[in-house]
Amino acid sequence: MKIQNRRYTGNKYKLMPWIKEIILRHCSVHNVLFDVFGGTGVVTAELLDVTTKNIINDFLFSNEVFYKAFFGATKYDKKKLNQYVIKYSNIDRKTLLDNYVSENYGGKYFKYEDAKLIGYIRESIEDDYKNHNLTEKEYYILLASLLYSFDKCANTVGHYEAFIKDNKIRMAFVFELIEPIQTKNEVQIYRQDSNELARHVTADIAFVDPPYNSRQYSRFYHVMETIVKWDKPKLHGTAMKPAEENMSNYCRNSAPDVFADLINNLDVKYIVVTYNNTYDSKSSSSRNKITLEQIKQILETRGKTIVFEKEYHRFNAGKTAASQHKELVFLTKVGV
Ligand SMILES: C[S@@+](CC[C@H](N)C(=O)[O-])C[C@H]1O[C@@H](n2cnc3c(N)ncnc32)[C@H](O)[C@@H]1O
Repeated sequence: MKIQNRRYTGNKYKLMPWIKEIILRHCSVHNVLFDVFGGTGVVTAELLDVTTKNIINDFLFSNEVFYKAFFGATKYDKKKLNQYVIKYSNIDRKTLLDNYVSENYGGKYFKYEDAKLIGYIRESIEDDYKNHNLTEKEYYILLASLLYSFDKCANTVGHYEAFIKDNKIRMAFVFELIEPIQTKNEVQIYRQDSNELARHVTADIAFVDPPYNSRQYSRFYHVMETIVKWDKPKLHGTAMKPAEENMSNYCRNSAPDVFADLINNLDVKYIVVTYNNTYDSKSSSSRNKITLEQIKQILETRGKTIVFEKEYHRFNAGKTAASQHKELVFLTKVGV
């Protein structure tokens, strides 16, 4: 499984050819890239060949695991990992005991028997790492592989805000390995609040792709967060969510102020911001917290800003007029 083989709201994979062309044409220096809101990491991945150093950040625990698994030149034993795949695929789920995953998510996000296997594998990855049978890189690759594999069979519409309640969970879980990306670039990985980190980073380009509506990523991907952290908290409600953590100010009414603070503190030559115009959406949760005009105004305080537009059709549950959807890229040349 490649880095883009994951369902993630707002990921920019399909837009990357367009965005890359804009960057190459308009940013005369593009050695060091700061991917401020990394998400899946596909932006960094697609720009590895035109950069020499990459700084990637996201405040979610699961995204940090993916970056550590996919990026970085650390060697690992591929044969050993393939043996893990064989070992996991030979396990008879019916013989496994109940565990944290089956007790909480069985028959909900996953088939009950699949949930037992997912919980068993999660525990055994942790044990093997603690017992020094896995290097750090191998640990992250196995963990990321577990998450990518269960995401494929999860009984959801793509995120974990809720599970589908029709009692017919169809897909069966199959453990497959992710394919780490070979790169000579130095990749620095952070799990920090974007506005805090921005105060300590210097780069050529900052790629800024924050959430723009009230939907919190930490709630959308809580199952991944809980399985990565593995501190087995008590979960609540029908959706089996943990206590709130990493709630983003970009999803609140203070978003314009937080965005302005970030832009003000970026020590870079170019700022690239992506945005889509769902502001007029009829659904309040998908309505943008920052307007197009506010973005432009804030960026103009740092330098000359050009706006690029692309019509983009995407799934919208019928609440917004698809034909009106536009993807925008703002490019600011700082200090000009
Ligand atoms: C629109 S997504 C980025 C998508 C990414 N460009 C991609 O292509 O996959 C926004 C990301 O910002 C992260 N995020 C939101 N608020 C944050 C904050 N204050 N600090 C760091 N990350 C944050 C979310 O976890 C989410 O992954």
